[in-house]
Amino acid sequence: MVKLAKYAKPFIMPLIVAIALLFVQAMTDLALPDYMSNIVNKGIQQNGIENAVPSAITQSKMNKLTLFMSENDKKEVIDNYTLINKDSSDYEKYVKDYPQLEKESVYVLKDISKSEIDKLNPTIGKAFLTVSGVDKMKSEAKNGKINFNGQEIPSNTDLFALLGKLSEEQRTKVSEQANKKFEELGDSMIVQAAIAPIKDEYKALGVNTDKLQSSYIKRTGVTMLGISLIGAVCTILVGFLGAKIAAGLSRNLRRDVFTKVESFSNTEFDKFSTASLITRTTNDITQIQMVINMSVRMVFYAPIMGVGGILRALQKSHSMSWIIAVAVIALLGLILIVFSIALPKFKAIQKLIDRLNLVTRENLSGMMVIRAFSTQKFEEQRFDKANKDLTGTNLFVNRVMVSMMPIMMLIMNGITLLIVWVGAHQVAQSSMQVGDMMAFMQYAMQIIFSFLMLSMMFILIPRASVAADRVAEVLAVQPVIVDKKDSKHFEKEIQGTIEFKNVSFRYPGAEEDVIKDLNFKALPGQTTAIIGSTGAGKTTLINLVPRFYDVTDGQILIDGIDIREVPQKELRDKIGYVPQKGSLFSGTIESNLKYADENSSEENIRRAAEIAQAIEFISERPEGFETAISQGGTNVSGGQKQRLSIARALVKRPEIYIFDDSFSALDFKTDAALRRALKKNTGSSTVLLVAQRISTIMNAEQIIVLDEGKIVGVGTHKELIKNCATYQEIASSQLSKEELA
Ligand code: CTP
Ligand code: MG
Repeated sequence: MVKLAKYAKPFIMPLIVAIALLFVQAMTDLALPDYMSNIVNKGIQQNGIENAVPSAITQSKMNKLTLFMSENDKKEVIDNYTLINKDSSDYEKYVKDYPQLEKESVYVLKDISKSEIDKLNPTIGKAFLTVSGVDKMKSEAKNGKINFNGQEIPSNTDLFALLGKLSEEQRTKVSEQANKKFEELGDSMIVQAAIAPIKDEYKALGVNTDKLQSSYIKRTGVTMLGISLIGAVCTILVGFLGAKIAAGLSRNLRRDVFTKVESFSNTEFDKFSTASLITRTTNDITQIQMVINMSVRMVFYAPIMGVGGILRALQKSHSMSWIIAVAVIALLGLILIVFSIALPKFKAIQKLIDRLNLVTRENLSGMMVIRAFSTQKFEEQRFDKANKDLTGTNLFVNRVMVSMMPIMMLIMNGITLLIVWVGAHQVAQSSMQVGDMMAFMQYAMQIIFSFLMLSMMFILIPRASVAADRVAEVLAVQPVIVDKKDSKHFEKEIQGTIEFKNVSFRYPGAEEDVIKDLNFKALPGQTTAIIGSTGAGKTTLINLVPRFYDVTDGQILIDGIDIREVPQKELRDKIGYVPQKGSLFSGTIESNLKYADENSSEENIRRAAEIAQAIEFISERPEGFETAISQGGTNVSGGQKQRLSIARALVKRPEIYIFDDSFSALDFKTDAALRRALKKNTGSSTVLLVAQRISTIMNAEQIIVLDEGKIVGVGTHKELIKNCATYQEIASSQLSKEELA
């Protein structure tokens, strides 16, 4: 995982932008419950009246209110209001809002800041409560008498006038008595309690209080809508960035893996199977892509959300914070238990998938053999076992994960219940507002969800890290065959003399040399044939020339230059190679022939096809050179494939030809015709030719007889037939007595 970290580098900028957007998204998500609590607390419970400082107060009411304020408070309150009457210049402006202005003067609140309002809140709130308390006495009058300050007085007495006549000292006593009652309530509760008399005051001013309420709720609702919209835009943008980062990163990974694999020599290919390399470039990288996409969205969002949620919840209620602690501990405990059970199984799943792939691959590629030997039952059982193992483990993991869900829901609902239970008591004791309890509940859910998101990542990351390790493994391979820094170069016109000097070769990891101390020279204009029993090392020997493998000991020289000294491309440009197992690419016959040289002329291609004896079957097809070749060349016969492979090498007109048993699938007549044409057309090139048939190589200038990796005879057909026992053996098995003689 860490090894692939450098692939994140080009995406740092989008990642930072994504994190910033996630931050905004989290902030919007966290802001919403607060607005909701405002709708409940202020919009519904307080009739849309936000605080105890009304925007206007009639002069008569103000006079009553100030009766219960200290001199300082009174001054402060009056200072923040402007008295408007019929003669004021602003009269026209205010009379619309406060129709009562037509009858009496009105105090209008100045444009003051929120902190100043907060300061005035308790002062005015208490005054309103006291005034309404005094009013209440009047309405509770019994037998026309009111109990006022221990005295019975007639109920039609103007209490406020009476109070106004009292001395400063006595008045303070009255208001202190009232204040004692309010002390237990917090500021916000005083405001809430004062709402009813304030609403009456608004009514007295002629203000439509229903409109006041609905406009507050609408205003808050529209703000919430706006915030949700911002959140939604952020979510979309983050999704877009996440996909972009993940797709870009995996594109780079795939490109690098492919380039790396292209630089592999056969040594490295022997290490990874082809199927495994394909799985790594496709499936594994897709896994990484998926996890990156998800983690861009979750890994950063979850902590911001979790921490923000906790802070906000504490703001709403300190006393209930223990509930969140309980929730988090319960969830963490659950997640830990589930993971300790499921995580080892996740790793096992990856291995079982590999196993299933292997069995499937073998089955599909060996289908013909399986049918021929009627081993379907056995293969079915083998597949069944791999399939069942995977199914079993998958089921187990899923059962564990699924059982987590109801438990989690139980915990979450339990937490909600707990919050309502504890919150309801606090609401009853007036130490908490209903809206705050609801917001707390939402914050608790947000915190829990952020923990869930983090735990999701714990599932995904181990899976991705397995995939990442497999990809990193390929990228970490250092190919053994590389170009030298200060490489030498061939002359422009090379001769093509190939010389093997004390060459030994051993396959990586093998115990024994396959080629042992070979010495020979292949000259330009001549055919050097190599013959020997199967497994003698012919293909191995020939593969050393284009450097598919490097020699273990000794050296191979072309025109006197060690082939390890020249760049691989320069070396391979000189060689026309026809492999033992011909392979064609999907396309047309022409595209396959042009594979050797894309700028080759029509003429040259036709010539190559003629020499390779392919022209006949090509022209038989209605599309000729445009005949489609299917993937792997399965729609041409073995012999046709060989001839197209030969033609492909001929298109190149190289200085060195290598034919590895390339005539084996041809009938004798075609074989002979092809050899004759080749002889005429290869001219001054060096030809290395591996064959099993004596007749194919009889006319070669030099024949090398190979046995168990050693040269047991060199010479022409005539010489070898006389003095090489191995050659004689091969010859006598293939030729008639007359031919031998
Ligand atoms: N070998 C190996 N690893 C490989 C290829 C071959 O260990 N990647 C071994 C084989 O087991 C064999 C020896 O090398 O014993 C020689 O193989 P090869 O050169 O392919 O033999 P040929 O002479 O080409 O045999 P054939 O005529 O069947 O093509
Ligand atoms: Mg071979």
